Amino acid sequence: MSRLKKVPKANTQGFYDRIADVHNVALKLNGYRASVAKYLRSLKLDLKEDSLVLDAGSGTGIVTFGLQDAGYSLKKAIAYDLSHKCLKVARSEFKKDKRTDASKICPVQGNVLVLPFASSTFDLVITCGVLEYVPLDDGLKELARVLKPGGRLVFIPVKPSLVGSVLEFLYKFRIHPIENVKRISQQYFNIVGYHKFPLKEPIAWSKNIYLLERKDHADALADTPT
Ligand SMILES: C[S@@+](CC[C@H](N)C(=O)[O-])C[C@H]1O[C@@H](n2cnc3c(N)ncnc32)[C@H](O)[C@@H]1O
Repeated sequence: MSRLKKVPKANTQGFYDRIADVHNVALKLNGYRASVAKYLRSLKLDLKEDSLVLDAGSGTGIVTFGLQDAGYSLKKAIAYDLSHKCLKVARSEFKKDKRTDASKICPVQGNVLVLPFASSTFDLVITCGVLEYVPLDDGLKELARVLKPGGRLVFIPVKPSLVGSVLEFLYKFRIHPIENVKRISQQYFNIVGYHKFPLKEPIAWSKNIYLLERKDHADALADTPT
């Protein structure tokens, strides 16, 4: 299959362009930022002044904010998303937020299936609620490609659940079955952690976290034509 055929329909982009403002307000209220920050802090990641991080499908930036709040020093975080409007909202939120150094965050528009970054660029990739819009194998393969060998992917898929099904309907995506999440992840990554959020945190109602470490041969797999 050619790469062009994998690009999702323009309606996902149009949909998020339309709902960006409302989506942003909802995310401010639901506490995802604090939940993600607490989890990332608990990982004690080996990020340094020269580290590069990708938030793949950043939306209006809630996960990028979580990373900032977790207190890691890094060179740059790329907030990458299909929706121009989400990135516009994100850029304005990054500038307004007193706890955030906006100069270290770079919003970039594009498709997660064709990332405009060289192989082995990032020390850490985080993706939350995004790969539900694309074939999981294609998405994970592309994220593995841009991670450095041994780099980590904080993968936060939507889990099969009542709230997940409501979100699936509202946000027009498809939840990947857990068996597929585990099986396909293991083609490119070692699963090194699994995190369930406490039920009192709203993010727990629709999401768990898989902490993945890129396998050495993931580059070769990513270069294999499909
Ligand atoms: C449910 S939102 C999640 C946003 C953010 N990660 C969060 O947790 O708040 C899904 C996001 O994925 C983006 N998205 C969907 N398909 C994409 C694709 N193929 N490439 C890049 N971004 C995509 C949408 O534009 C939207 O911002």
